[in-house]
Amino acid sequence: MRIGIVGGSGDFGRGLAERLRRVGEEVLLGSRTPHDDLVSNQECAEEAELVFLSVPPGGVEDMCSSLAQNLEGKITVSVASPIVFVEGQPGAAVGELSLAELAQRAAPGARVVAGFHTISAKALARADDPLDEDVLLCGDDEEAKAVVAELAERIVEGRAVDAGRLQVARWVEPITAVLLNVNRGYKANAGVRITGLP
Ligand SMILES: NC(=O)c1ccc[n+]([C@@H]2O[C@H](COP(=O)([O-])OP(=O)(O)OC[C@H]3O[C@@H](n4cnc5c(N)ncnc54)[C@H](OP(=O)(O)O)[C@@H]3O)[C@@H](O)[C@H]2O)c1
Repeated sequence: MRIGIVGGSGDFGRGLAERLRRVGEEVLLGSRTPHDDLVSNQECAEEAELVFLSVPPGGVEDMCSSLAQNLEGKITVSVASPIVFVEGQPGAAVGELSLAELAQRAAPGARVVAGFHTISAKALARADDPLDEDVLLCGDDEEAKAVVAELAERIVEGRAVDAGRLQVARWVEPITAVLLNVNRGYKANAGVRITGLP
């Protein structure tokens, strides 16, 4: 499958791209300023069959509006977390709607799935080390969620856990801030495993 990563020049996108390439996927990296291995975000979204939105939270809505036509009918994975740093401490600025819902509103034809918020760019970057974690997914399009789940389970040791409808992303997205605090405290790269599932 040809996978596009919009905002793919960032640490998260680069790390994800390496993991996906290692399981045999073709990956296109998008950027606002295409150069070297980066194509434009428009070309990235247009040419890909499945698109990851990996831009900072403040850029999600505008990016989705500008890519709305390119994302029409495409599975679009929103990984954005509403992280803010206040006096150097990681926190989350949570709005009424999740970033994934804002993405869906801005690109109504996209098949938006929210996920991967608990996977750190640092962990992704250590591409030789297995990712001993689960991936939490939210979305209203069950078929799209299943495709993303299958993909996710090829890059993590754990499971893709269905956390529910897209609306649930409101509570999943800020988890990144919790993990950042845990990582600081323990000088670790913590991930999440959901226990007790059948
Ligand atoms: N880093 C993590 O550990 C982590 C963990 C979980 C989730 N996430 C989420 O994953 C996403 C990407 O994370 P990241 O650390 O790679 O982010 P980042 O480096 O801050 O941003 C990724 C890329 O987005 C582009 N960009 C920057 N500002 C933009 C704007 N206003 N509008 C459109 N594009 C913009 C830049 O690429 P160009 O300049 O090339 O266009 C940048 O390289 C974020 O939403 C973050 O919340 C990150």
